[in-house]
Amino acid sequence: MTRDESPCILVTGATGTVGSHVVSALANRDDVSDDSDATDSSTADADGGVTVRAGVRDPASAADRFAADVELAEFDFERPETWGEALAGADRLFLMRPPAVSDVKRHITPFVDAAVRTGVERVVYLSVVGAEKNPLLPHRRVERHLESADASSTFLRASFFMQNLNEVHREEIVERDEIFVPAGGGATSFVDARDVGEVAAVALTEPGHGDRSYDVTGPAALTYRQVARVFSAVLDRRIEYADPSIPEFAWRMRRRGFDWSYVAVMVGIYTTARLGLADRVTDDAARVLGREPRTLREYVADYADEFRR
Ligand SMILES: NC(=O)c1ccc[n+]([C@@H]2O[C@H](COP(=O)([O-])OP(=O)(O)OC[C@H]3O[C@@H](n4cnc5c(N)ncnc54)[C@H](OP(=O)(O)O)[C@@H]3O)[C@@H](O)[C@H]2O)c1
Repeated sequence: MTRDESPCILVTGATGTVGSHVVSALANRDDVSDDSDATDSSTADADGGVTVRAGVRDPASAADRFAADVELAEFDFERPETWGEALAGADRLFLMRPPAVSDVKRHITPFVDAAVRTGVERVVYLSVVGAEKNPLLPHRRVERHLESADASSTFLRASFFMQNLNEVHREEIVERDEIFVPAGGGATSFVDARDVGEVAAVALTEPGHGDRSYDVTGPAALTYRQVARVFSAVLDRRIEYADPSIPEFAWRMRRRGFDWSYVAVMVGIYTTARLGLADRVTDDAARVLGREPRTLREYVADYADEFRR
């Protein structure tokens, strides 16, 4: 890319928990350029704006989720015939691995190769905290492939998203006033997915983040008893931490309709917390963002409507 050309960034998982915030953070950065640097959008691009392209499996149903200036491209990791158009002209990539796409060698690494072949020079990859210690994790396998690829990459090794509480555990919070996860007394360094999206936007658009990895955590590690206290205070009703055993949790999730493989992944995650291995807090997000990451209290306040009856 020459200095005069604006970058084109393909965002995968653009309808997902983090990807949706990557798109909006990039689009907002574009707005800032429009306001301050330019009188019309074409000049804004030449002056540092970006073209944001959301890669989605079903463009028709996703269209109204994005601002008008976000390009939409049909993209499916499992359908290589969609890759060419999604990548056309893209020189940067936000990469995530959807939980349902398990075959990294078949669907993720060949896509990375296609991206680099067609001109992607910078990749920001959504990984998971601790990936570097576990070569069997699919996230680490993607990281290793990126390390050997002919493009600069930034790994965002994120801790547990606060948004799991409204996406997966909302039902128990709303209907039973309880948080039902088998994490025992272990603490978790919850991160707000909005902050992960904003860190990605910075790494995709500003210099100095290539060939680095960031452990993106929230500002504090909290036990679920402390989490329940924050919910109670913000929502102004008593929310309890149920502290179930792992079998109790697994059966409840099965009864709610989650399949066994998903339940197994959740049990793995909460066992890590139970063992006290999910509590590391870093200042990586603060250093990249130039501000403190959001607290759990801010998250509950912002999502309060989702937790009301
Ligand atoms: N949850 C956590 O606490 C946590 C913490 C750290 C890291 N992570 C990692 O974050 C990643 C998940 O990110 P997320 O939570 O933002 O995603 P998500 O909310 O689970 O959404 C999945 C996204 O992937 C898309 N997708 C599904 N199958 C696809 C396919 N075959 N081809 C292309 N796109 C497809 C979905 O699009 P459609 O609209 O088409 O369905 C959706 O946008 C995982 O790798 C996970 O391990 C999660």
